[in-house]
Amino acid sequence: MNIIYTQNYKMKKLIELIDKVASSRATILLQGESGTGKELFSRYIHAKSARNNNKFYAINTAAVPENLLESELFGFEKGAFTGASQRKIGKFEQANGSTLLLDEISEMPLVLQAKILRVLQENEIERVGGTESIPVNVRLVAATNRNLGELVKEGKFREDLYYRLLGLPIALPPLRDRKNDIMLLADFFLSTFVKWVERVLTPNSVQYLRPSFLKHESKYKLPFLRGVRFAHNRQTSNKTYLPKTWLRDRAYFVAMAYDLIFQ
Ligand SMILES: Nc1ncnc2c1ncn2[C@@H]1O[C@H](COP(=O)(O)OP(=O)(O)OP(=O)(O)O)[C@@H](O)[C@H]1O
Ligand SMILES: [Mg+2]
Repeated sequence: MNIIYTQNYKMKKLIELIDKVASSRATILLQGESGTGKELFSRYIHAKSARNNNKFYAINTAAVPENLLESELFGFEKGAFTGASQRKIGKFEQANGSTLLLDEISEMPLVLQAKILRVLQENEIERVGGTESIPVNVRLVAATNRNLGELVKEGKFREDLYYRLLGLPIALPPLRDRKNDIMLLADFFLSTFVKWVERVLTPNSVQYLRPSFLKHESKYKLPFLRGVRFAHNRQTSNKTYLPKTWLRDRAYFVAMAYDLIFQ
């Protein structure tokens, strides 16, 4: 868990940098293509910080409908709007004393960007429909696979928030720029996958595999799909980096799992 596998010099330098700043409260902006490890790094930052006794919090801006985002982030008071029958605590308050990842921050609506900037400056929030300011002590990590600078130029991202986030920018290099990591990660994904298959593939268990997979879907599906995606990833589109035997083994496991799980 939270192990960042790499043999790449640039990545190692980034990890060193993170080790140095993890214990501070500095906001960190993680930029990188899909699959480069932004979430992994944000969990690593949390794990290396003095906040690691508390739970790590994350919210994916792109996954929450725009009209719910504000109350997800800041919570709301009872009666704040129709249906607000009781007070709800938002992510910023939940993550008090801990770390909050704002994932896909490029998708944050401009009005909320202003509110986030305020949290960064004042260390306090207001719940929707509330009047008091509530102090919060949150370490923010923001992640994006888009070019925020470009979005600023297009007027879709606030310049002031951008510069505030840029305090400590970490640009995660794609795999095509660190080819020596490809085999390492390929082996890691394959072994995780093999372990999982071995665990569930005891004699007579095949018939139970699908239900048991579904039961643990949230735990396994994502890493599994990511493993599959990794194999097809644009980042590694040139498959000649991988030896044929590895590809054959991987293809075998992926095919087997697809059959067992999805059919
Ligand atoms: N260097 C690495 N070492 C170990 N695992 C890694 C590494 N890089 C990526 N992974 C794994 O690959 C998967 C994708 O990584 P992660 O979710 O952190 O990427 P991401 O940048 O957040 O991608 P997205 O933009 O699609 O959300 C995860 O299962 C993660 O644990
Ligand atoms: Mg991610």
